[in-house]
Amino acid sequence: MAVNIIPMPNKLFEYGGEKHFRKNEFVFEKKEGLDEEDYELLINENGVFVSYSTEKGRFYAEKTLRQLDNDGAYPFLRIADSPRFAYRAFMIDSARHMQTIDEIKKYIEAAALYKFNVFHWHLSDDQGWRIEIEKYPELTKVGAFRNGHGFTSKNKAVYGGYYTKAQIKEVVEFCRERHIEVIPEIDMPGHMIAAIASYPEFSCEGKKIDVELNAGVHKTILCAGNENVFKFCFDVIDEVCELFPCKYFHIGGDEAPKKLWDNCPKCKERIREEGLKDSEELQGYFVNRIIEHLEEKGKAPVVWNESLKSGMLKKGALVADWMDRENLCEEWANNGGKLIIEDFFHYYLDYNYGITPLRKTYSFNPMLEKLDIEGRKNVVGVETPIWTEFVEDFEKLSWLCFPRMMAVAETGWTNWGRRNYRDFVKRAEANRPILLSMGINMAPKMDWDPLPLGRLKGRVSHYGKFLTRENISNFIKEKQEKKAEKKAEN
Ligand code: ACM
Ligand code: ZN
Repeated sequence: MAVNIIPMPNKLFEYGGEKHFRKNEFVFEKKEGLDEEDYELLINENGVFVSYSTEKGRFYAEKTLRQLDNDGAYPFLRIADSPRFAYRAFMIDSARHMQTIDEIKKYIEAAALYKFNVFHWHLSDDQGWRIEIEKYPELTKVGAFRNGHGFTSKNKAVYGGYYTKAQIKEVVEFCRERHIEVIPEIDMPGHMIAAIASYPEFSCEGKKIDVELNAGVHKTILCAGNENVFKFCFDVIDEVCELFPCKYFHIGGDEAPKKLWDNCPKCKERIREEGLKDSEELQGYFVNRIIEHLEEKGKAPVVWNESLKSGMLKKGALVADWMDRENLCEEWANNGGKLIIEDFFHYYLDYNYGITPLRKTYSFNPMLEKLDIEGRKNVVGVETPIWTEFVEDFEKLSWLCFPRMMAVAETGWTNWGRRNYRDFVKRAEANRPILLSMGINMAPKMDWDPLPLGRLKGRVSHYGKFLTRENISNFIKEKQEKKAEKKAEN
């Protein structure tokens, strides 16, 4: 009988043979000396024997048994299992498109099966604010709705919604029962247009703008010279913290263009007052003030890697390396900072299989080359996100995420030398009925690793979406503006 477990256990001996067991032939026993997430499993003629030291370890043993169960028969084997990384995360973007609570639970159930232990929930962005905040009701009255969208279709119907506090608590509890911590993300100071559409006074220009319809990076961000902006961020964080017991809080910090800060009297005054060099250091100041507030609440920050650019990031932050061309992440980890690897080219599941084939995701070693011995110790784990600009429904989300998120699960859990791609592919396919029983329709196997023509088709179908008349005219306009600015400088 094939042993089709994902992630592959770190010690596995197969004896040959199998048996149907009755309930009283399953023995669960606590054992000293095992770590929190470890478990041991012995299956022989006499029964199924499980050892663990905490409920979490027992839970992982049950997830392994779920995958071994072949109509009630189990193969004879011995497993001694322990994860490679402590942090094994998946992220869902509920801002660009929302998922129902039931869909989110389905994803979480599958993630638990593959021993993920962190759910990073991206709850706000330019295109929508998705969490009820009592102190700022406009966030969900205005910021949660947009007038159609420019990314997926020409549909001009109003799109939106948000999660109530009761719904959020329900998801957090669902995760707790599955030993998954939930990290909320409120992205700042960039990716805040939905909030600024609700409260225009929080941007540098103070102009009324709409919730963003288009994908990409947008110039309007929170004003870092305005004290009310900090009060807003602190108030939001305080309310969000009440819903999420997790030690970590993700404050984003990615993709914040500095053009408006460069021209804002309040931001310029802040730079002068604080003795900062430029707008990049102003972001350092902004992020560190938010971190101080989190620390006062006993929380620890997670930030995207752009927050390293100022060179000022407070120690103690957990940095998510998604796109770092300057190797600042390796430098951070080599000097004692904690790092999670969320590599754009391998782990971003919103890019189809033509762009990121399954093999590419599976083959990526998160131990980046420029990490030294100290730096390697500071890689706490991996994370795989699904961004949803182009993911309108759960069917597409399932197609994109499965089996690639299982590949990340295996990288997060299984020691590097024990991984084997061909074997993984077999095990992934064997998991299809289990996922189907959970309401998840994995991509057909023929889609996973397309041949060159299929890869080309995948690229065209993804990048073709950006070739709208509006995007092309914006691109030309930006080029002309840049040219004019350069001319004015000279
Ligand atoms: C990101 O993809 N902007 C973190
Ligand atoms: Zn400003």
